[in-house]
Amino acid sequence: MQLTMIGTGYVGLVSGVCFSDFGHDVTCVDKLPAKIEALNRGDVPIYEPGLQDMMAKNVAKKRLNFTLDFETAVGNAEAVFIAVGTPTRRGDGHADLTYVYAAAREIARSLKGYTVVVTKSTVPVGTNREVARVIRAENPDADFDVSSNPEFLREGAAIEDFMRPDRVVVGIENDRARGVMAKIYRPLALREAPIVYTDLESAEMIKYAANAFLATKITFINEIANLCEKVGADIQSVSKGMGMDQRIGSKFLHAGPGYGESCFPKDTKALARIGQEHASPVKIVEQVIAINEDRKRQMTDRIMYLCGDKVAGKKIAVLGVTFKPNTDDMRDSPSLTIVPALVGAGADVHVVDPQGRKEGEELLPSVTWIEDAYTAVQGADAVVVLTEWNEFRALDLVKMSGLMNDAKMADLRNIYDPAEARAAGFEYVSIGR
Ligand code: UDX
Repeated sequence: MQLTMIGTGYVGLVSGVCFSDFGHDVTCVDKLPAKIEALNRGDVPIYEPGLQDMMAKNVAKKRLNFTLDFETAVGNAEAVFIAVGTPTRRGDGHADLTYVYAAAREIARSLKGYTVVVTKSTVPVGTNREVARVIRAENPDADFDVSSNPEFLREGAAIEDFMRPDRVVVGIENDRARGVMAKIYRPLALREAPIVYTDLESAEMIKYAANAFLATKITFINEIANLCEKVGADIQSVSKGMGMDQRIGSKFLHAGPGYGESCFPKDTKALARIGQEHASPVKIVEQVIAINEDRKRQMTDRIMYLCGDKVAGKKIAVLGVTFKPNTDDMRDSPSLTIVPALVGAGADVHVVDPQGRKEGEELLPSVTWIEDAYTAVQGADAVVVLTEWNEFRALDLVKMSGLMNDAKMADLRNIYDPAEARAAGFEYVSIGR
């Protein structure tokens, strides 16, 4: 099948590469010449395990190509995927749909023959219907249907999630569009991946509801962690005991410094807005947003307290700044609240992150970037674990405490055992225990 992806950001690129791996002929289009040139050289602009190899393999098999030529790419396609960004609009929490509708108008002008226009970007309920209206207004003769096909890819595990999804969600309005979507996802259906066919509005809602639920689950366990600290319980045991209940499940029950990244903050805000606009507020999600923001500030207070409420002139080593491991993504990362607060209070912050430096240098000015954890903690007055990268999980704590000026550790991901850390000489604080 001939497929075209509009937008070579995270979602567009991963989806395009994976569709080509199914055996489809995929053309990825972007507006930025530098991006297309880089992709044609084989450079992947994001860090995602396995992506570069899979891309190279499918380019070599001539099933995957990158182009600026929008018109030809859309004209040839049986399905065109809109995978452009939907950032939070400044001021009102709405998803900014400028890029989605601009893409729809441009697609309308280039359509040839029956085509399904599929939205992969996360968009508010009603957007797919509006995309159809925009296309019809721009090109009344176009032969097309729209489909909503939200993605559920975790950064760092995106290829795995695409190839072995819990489910694929497809919103459609008729059997003709369903037939095209079924053909696209046939390789997954053959592997027994469940495919949920539903209407456009339900498909759009599934994405928001799923992300808001996961953000709520994390926020719930973060609040229970706070309470555990007060009553002397251990959040690790509590999560384990709760998660074994199959109705609850163990995933997304790890207490931490608050969720970050592009999807949870932006999708919870968008869902809250949709609720308010329809006079059906989703109050639990409104609370989750507020609690998560607060949490990042609480984490700074925790580090300050560990340092005797004075960090001016002290050296603090920070391990990990990306919002989670195996990504170079810094968007909405707790580090963006915590590190500037420490710097603002006069701390000399030294940062280590296996992938975060490229994006982080601009976002976290006034810190010193170090290549490895042992060098970073040399002469430090405290060390803070912010992201649970594997390479921080098995550091020699005795060696570390010996290198530090004052052996204090704030482990905001609970990667160390409190007794072991204390035995190694650390004054140690963590989350919920
Ligand atoms: C998420 C969704 O999982 C995915 O379905 C959606 O399409 C995009 O958003 P991702 O952005 O890769 O994926 O992040 P994820 O692994 O889900 O983690 C999100 C945030 O929650 C991270 O900051 C992480 O540290 C935090 N988190 C996650 C916790 O604090 N505790 C947990 O138990 C799980």
